[in-house]
Amino acid sequence: QALPLEMHKVRIVEKLNLIPVEERAKAMIEAGCNTFLLRNKDVFMDMLTDSGVNAMSQNQQAAMLVADDSYAGSESFYRFESKIQELFGMNFVLPAHQGRACENILSQVYVKDGQFVPMNYHFTTTKAHIQLNGGTVVELMTEEGLKINSDEMFKGNMDTNALAKFIKDKGPENIAFVRMEAGTNLIGGQPFSLKNLEEVSNLCHHSNILLVLDASLLSDNLYFIKKREEDFKNQSIRQITKKIANLCDIIYFSARKLGSARGGAIVVRKQEDYDRMKGLITLYEGFLTYGGMSVREIEAITIGLEETMDENMINQGPQFIEYMTNELLKAGVPVVTPAGGLGCHINAKDFLPHIPQEQYPAGALAAALYVTGGIRGMERGTLSEERQSDGSETLANMELVRIALPRRVFTLSQVKYVIDRIIWLFNHRELVQGLVFELEPEILRFFFGRLTTI
Ligand code: F0G
Repeated sequence: QALPLEMHKVRIVEKLNLIPVEERAKAMIEAGCNTFLLRNKDVFMDMLTDSGVNAMSQNQQAAMLVADDSYAGSESFYRFESKIQELFGMNFVLPAHQGRACENILSQVYVKDGQFVPMNYHFTTTKAHIQLNGGTVVELMTEEGLKINSDEMFKGNMDTNALAKFIKDKGPENIAFVRMEAGTNLIGGQPFSLKNLEEVSNLCHHSNILLVLDASLLSDNLYFIKKREEDFKNQSIRQITKKIANLCDIIYFSARKLGSARGGAIVVRKQEDYDRMKGLITLYEGFLTYGGMSVREIEAITIGLEETMDENMINQGPQFIEYMTNELLKAGVPVVTPAGGLGCHINAKDFLPHIPQEQYPAGALAAALYVTGGIRGMERGTLSEERQSDGSETLANMELVRIALPRRVFTLSQVKYVIDRIIWLFNHRELVQGLVFELEPEILRFFFGRLTTI
């Protein structure tokens, strides 16, 4: 395999600390065995997420200096709006402070008590907002999507037969909207194909159901369509972007992952949908020309979205992830395949077969990996689920530890260090113990929950 190559150079650096292992063990206990509760000064490789921590380009930084600061009618917003109109071919842009803010407003406006929201897979904040408004999330992924190891290149696809049947059984009036998530986060950053999105779009529009795209991880999905989908390999990223957008009614994104490091937006095709949401934007986010973002952030996203159209920019994450996945596989470490976007995903169930799901193997592995190498990953398994109303656990389909690769942040030698530490831990996996909650919050418990070893 060819080595992945950085198509950029590093001109601003930040010093890192690697504290001794005894101090790491102490810090992990103080953090309640929850990597979210670590202090970043104690972390060497922060691979918790790709959200808000991607590197900026010099052109983004330059644009931030010429932002137009005004409460209403800022030119920065109009530049942002016209870039989105150009790339997505949709007319209306509602700014929001981040992705979940978009989900709050979409759910409040479109989800009525008792309605369903079919999707290719849920995301934590999305599901929480839909449920808060009385809706039920229905995951209609394909069988391959839930296989840790598969040859399917588009594990983020929706099962369109299941969707057709679901619409028929429940009736379109009971479906708030259908949601497709680009670069499906919780199953390992796995893409959908353009062909699949086309089929989903046809089914929705045949029954007059809105198709909503969560484009937070669009850049990875674009890269994979270009690389893996035969019919589109000769199309530019820009053309593929336009094709995707043409199939959807509403697109929202967290700009913390797409385009920049802060912000978000809801992009809307029809005036009537725009009108339904704009009041809540002003209520929760801010005036319609900033929506909770600073004008500097808005400028950075505008440039970042344009840079997303450059294959040499969006390929860096997926290529590093593929390298890491392949190196771990060679050492026998169980990882999600094919390699996706966002990060490398370790299969904690097979890594730690001695820890039952009720003892959160992915949480235990994330904690142990920090102690092993100062590496901060994120639990994406049962701990990230909410309990059922009767108090029982919702056992996750997959127990994953996500080792995120913030875009253009780490060098290959740092990635090699991480690979080395994971392999060491795999060879000493019997040291890792299961976890139990000491303090368990009711909503999104994985963020603040405190645990201890059993
Ligand atoms: N949708 C997807 C697919 C996401 O991955 C995220 C965030 C959101 C929505 C919410 O956006 O954070 O700006 O409010 N994912 C982050 C992660 C938190 O670490 O995977 P947000």
